[in-house]
Amino acid sequence: MSLLKALACQGIGLITAILLARNVPQLVFSFWLVVIFQGIIAAAISRLFHQAIWWMPIHLLFLPAALGLSALDLPSWLYLLTLLVLIVVFWGTAKGDVPLFLSSSAVAETMISLVKQENADSFVELGAGVGSVVVPLAKRLFLLNITAIERAPLPWLILRWRCRLLTNVTVQNKSLWDCDLANQKLVFAFLSPLFMDQLGEKIRREMHPGSLFVSSSFSVPDWHPESVIQLSDRRKTKLYCYRI
Ligand SMILES: C[S@@+](CC[C@H](N)C(=O)[O-])C[C@H]1O[C@@H](n2cnc3c(N)ncnc32)[C@H](O)[C@@H]1O
Repeated sequence: MSLLKALACQGIGLITAILLARNVPQLVFSFWLVVIFQGIIAAAISRLFHQAIWWMPIHLLFLPAALGLSALDLPSWLYLLTLLVLIVVFWGTAKGDVPLFLSSSAVAETMISLVKQENADSFVELGAGVGSVVVPLAKRLFLLNITAIERAPLPWLILRWRCRLLTNVTVQNKSLWDCDLANQKLVFAFLSPLFMDQLGEKIRREMHPGSLFVSSSFSVPDWHPESVIQLSDRRKTKLYCYRI
């Protein structure tokens, strides 16, 4: 849906800029001015369509970047290859899934301490990426039963490869919305503020009382964390710990 909206913004921007150029004779002589107008109009329309604010620079720069790249005369297979790589890494992002960002080693270390503190025997990571958390966890805590859920093809493949010798990790290639969280002592997620309401509902429905849900960086709206752990990594990550 957001991709369709983005295309519509670009299209409306382009048509409006062309019409403007045809009706304002001074503009016809300045190709780049028309290109800049197109970006400004597309960005403004994206706000009318209630697209997130970060779409604005994308709309502003899209046409200049496309024209600049086409001037470089790159082979066409390079565009196809780039598109394919982006698709397998950021699978589902256009549909609204969360893109890939990696947790720091400080997050992994803190999760190891939390698992020990909780005396947990099972751990699930929702959207495990390339294993920045589950791999160190599995290497240090042999007895912990770990499930890593990841849907995007390339991160999942890398995760599988990294976990190939780790017998205490099960890697599943499916949507986090399709996995059952009952019987899990500790669930960890690093997703997006957009999904925290929906995720909170799932956690409340499925996790057993007494178990722990830890969300990296994003809190669940209207929930009161039992504790918030502030890390001193580059992102100053906050871990919101919710006792069910
Ligand atoms: C912000 S990254 C976090 C990666 C990893 N957990 C870490 O901390 O390094 C979010 C991950 O969730 C995955 N993801 C997003 N939506 C998903 C879904 N519906 N089901 C499974 N994985 C999903 C993305 O592919 C991405 O790898």
